[in-house]
Amino acid sequence: MKIVIVKNSKDVGAKAAWLVVKEIIKKRDLVLGLATGGTMIPFYRSLIDLIKGKKIELINVRTFNLDEYVGLSREDRRSYYYSMKKNFFSKVAMLEKNINFLDGMARNLDLECENYEKKIEDAGGIDLQILGIGRNGHIGFNEPWSSFRSRTREVFLSDFTRKDNSRFFSSLSKVPKRALTMGIATIMSARKIILLASGKSKAGIVHRALHGRISEDVPASVLYKHHNIIFVSDKGSASELD
Ligand code: F6R
Repeated sequence: MKIVIVKNSKDVGAKAAWLVVKEIIKKRDLVLGLATGGTMIPFYRSLIDLIKGKKIELINVRTFNLDEYVGLSREDRRSYYYSMKKNFFSKVAMLEKNINFLDGMARNLDLECENYEKKIEDAGGIDLQILGIGRNGHIGFNEPWSSFRSRTREVFLSDFTRKDNSRFFSSLSKVPKRALTMGIATIMSARKIILLASGKSKAGIVHRALHGRISEDVPASVLYKHHNIIFVSDKGSASELD
């Protein structure tokens, strides 16, 4: 694992955005796995600036987002789709057909997940996956004790994650209890991964994920086994690393 430590969350976003742009320049039809959440906001800002500034063509880029809440529609301001549309998709020239998202409103959620896996496979697999890390070590919505062999599926969110994410909802009771997420094996199949973390509140879990045992109780610890991963962290989240 290559580790890059920068000053603050803005620099984490800028560094990661630059790494993504370099991959798009190398492969115009890059298959890009995307994430949502607070860490990603500066990343998308920088990515948009770079794409515009350097006139990067996204027409052939295909994206697959990691996860979505069950029961929230795309029009719902709290859905991950809405957040992606607002913070990224609406600001760049991408083809709608190249944007792939799990549908948390699908009638048959198992089938939705099965089809998503198939779509990723048909696209030739994910070239580059962007990841954040939850304070309990989750990646995507793969909560502690998710199987390292898991694929895209419906999951129950832990109370910990629901509490953490309640900042995006009017109250804890409004945070969905279920979600769809790419599995850990799905994530690990990506040819390259960029993991982003920022802020002191992530320091403890970053330390456990990188220095602790590789174990299913800290899903992010599996990333240590990936052969092509860059971890971009700010000083805060890296503060407990040796
Ligand atoms: C979201 C996702 C999550 C977040 C994680 C960190 O698509 O996959 O794993 O990356 O919950 O979220 P923030 O950045 O809000 O701390």
